[in-house]
Amino acid sequence: MRTALFHKSRTITVVGQPRRLLATASTATAQHQASRAERQQPFYAGEPAGPSVKTAIPGPRSKELAKDLDTVFDTRALNMLTDYSRSSGNYIADADGNMLLDVYAQIASIPVGYNNSALAKAASSREMVSSIINRPALGNFPPHDWAEVLRSGILKAAPKGLDNVFTAMAGSDANETAFKAAFMYRRQLERGGRDVEFTPEEIESVMSNKGPGASQLSILSFKTGFHGRLFGSLSTTRSKPIHKLDIPAFDWPQATFPQLKYPLEEHAAENAAAEQASVDEVEHLIKSWHLPPAAIIVEPIQSEGGDNHASPDFFRKLREVTRRHGVLMIVDEVQTGVGATGRFWAHDHWNLQDPPDMVTFSKKAQAAGYYYRMPELRPNKPYRQFNTWMGDPARALLFRAIVDEIERLDLVNNTAKVGAYLYGQLEQLSKMHPDHFQNLRGKGQGTFIAFDSPKRDEFLVKAKSLGVNIGGSGATAVRLRPMLILRESHADILVDVLDKIARSF
Ligand SMILES: Cc1ncc(COP(=O)(O)O)c(C=O)c1O
Repeated sequence: MRTALFHKSRTITVVGQPRRLLATASTATAQHQASRAERQQPFYAGEPAGPSVKTAIPGPRSKELAKDLDTVFDTRALNMLTDYSRSSGNYIADADGNMLLDVYAQIASIPVGYNNSALAKAASSREMVSSIINRPALGNFPPHDWAEVLRSGILKAAPKGLDNVFTAMAGSDANETAFKAAFMYRRQLERGGRDVEFTPEEIESVMSNKGPGASQLSILSFKTGFHGRLFGSLSTTRSKPIHKLDIPAFDWPQATFPQLKYPLEEHAAENAAAEQASVDEVEHLIKSWHLPPAAIIVEPIQSEGGDNHASPDFFRKLREVTRRHGVLMIVDEVQTGVGATGRFWAHDHWNLQDPPDMVTFSKKAQAAGYYYRMPELRPNKPYRQFNTWMGDPARALLFRAIVDEIERLDLVNNTAKVGAYLYGQLEQLSKMHPDHFQNLRGKGQGTFIAFDSPKRDEFLVKAKSLGVNIGGSGATAVRLRPMLILRESHADILVDVLDKIARSF
C-alpha cells in the first residue's frame, strides 16, 4: 500500500490505501481482517485505484471548452466539465484527464456509480429502448405492463405504509404535485366528500384566479429548508434569497427549524428545548395563519440549507401535531432518500407509528414523484392531477435496476457501515483541527455527514486540487454526499485529503 504525492508535476497518484487516522487494533482476528479487506474492495472492477490530478482545475482544455460553451449556454454555475465516458464508479473524470474521487455525485443524485455495468445493461434492454423512443403520455396511454414496472421497482422501494405512487419529472415537480394533492384533499373534506360537486360560483370564480374556486390555503415549510425552484415549490423554499428574488410568491407560513448545537451530548437540554419551541411554533402557525395550511413539508435533514438535523423525537412530535390538526405531513426525501442515511428512507430512522401522508423522491431514484397511502389523495376527478408525461417509464426502469443493485450488493447496509467508519475518522480529524471541522454532524446517518468550515469555499477548491470533488451547503457547510458504493478505502482517501486541506491553511 503506497500513497504518493507528486506536487511538483501537479500529479497526485494515490495507490491503494492511504494512512488511516485510527490504527487497526493489533489483536484483530484474521476474520476481522478478512472482512475489513472485503470492505476495502471497490464493488465494481475498473475503478481507478485513487485520484489523479495532472493539471490545475480547471485545466487548459476545460477552460477552452468552457469558453466555447459560454457562447451558447450560461456557464456561470459551472463546477467542472466532465468526461462521462471516462468516469467510473466513485470517480469523476474531467476534460483534462484529471480523475477525482466524487463525494458530491451530481448533487447527491448518483446512487451506484458512474458507468455502472448493471445500469448499462438495463439501459440497453429492448424494454428500455422502447420506453425511450416511444415515450408515453402516461396518464392517457400507460404501457400495458406499467403496474408491473411500478410494483417491481418504484413501489418495491416504497416507504412502509405508502403503497401508491404519483410519478413526476423532478424533485420540485414531485413536491408541487404533492401540494396540489394536499389542497384538493383538503377542499374535498371541506365540501363534504368526493361526491359533492363544485358550486357554480367556484367554477366561475376560479377562472379569474379569485373567489371561492381559488382556494385560500397554504403549505407550511421551515426556515432554511429547500423544496425546489418551480413557482409553487419555491414559495416553500427558504434557504437562500438568490433563489427567490423577483419571483412572485405565495404568502405561506414558515416555522423555525431547530438549530441544534454540537456536540449533541453536551447540549441535550438546550436542543430538546429548541425542538419543542419549533413544534410549538408549527402548531401556532397551523392555528393562526390567515391561509390555513393544508400540509406541512419537511426534509428529514435540511440539505441545501446547510445540513441541519433534528432528532427522531422532533419528527414524531411534528407528526402528532399535524395529525391532531388534520394537516397533512409531506416528507421531502428528494435528497435524503434511497439509502444515503444508512436506511432506505431517512424517515425510517424516526420509527413513526403513523407514517407520513406523502413522501416525495427524486435524485438517486432517477425517477421522481410522491408516495401516498390514502385513496382520498387521488383527486375526485380525472385530469385534476395530470401532465403530458407525468414521469417517465425509462426512469422507472432505471430505478428498478438501481433498487435491484442496491439489494444485490446490500448497499444500504454498506452505507450505514462506511458512514460509521467515516464519521469516526472525521471525529478524530475534528479534534486535530477544530477550526476547520466545526459542528460535525450526521452520526448514525450513513454517509450523510457534514461539518462547517470558516473558509468553506477555499476548502472545496483545495479539495479538487488534491483529487476530491466535494460540495457545500448553506453558508459554511462542507457536505458529503458520496454514492452508496463508497468503501472504507475511499473514505480513507477522503479523510487523508481533508487532513491535508486543514494542514494547508
Ligand atoms: C430536499 C430537496 N427537495 C427538492 C429539491 C428539488 O429537486 P429538483 O432540483 O430535482 O427539482 C431538492 C434539490 O436539491 C432537494 O434537495
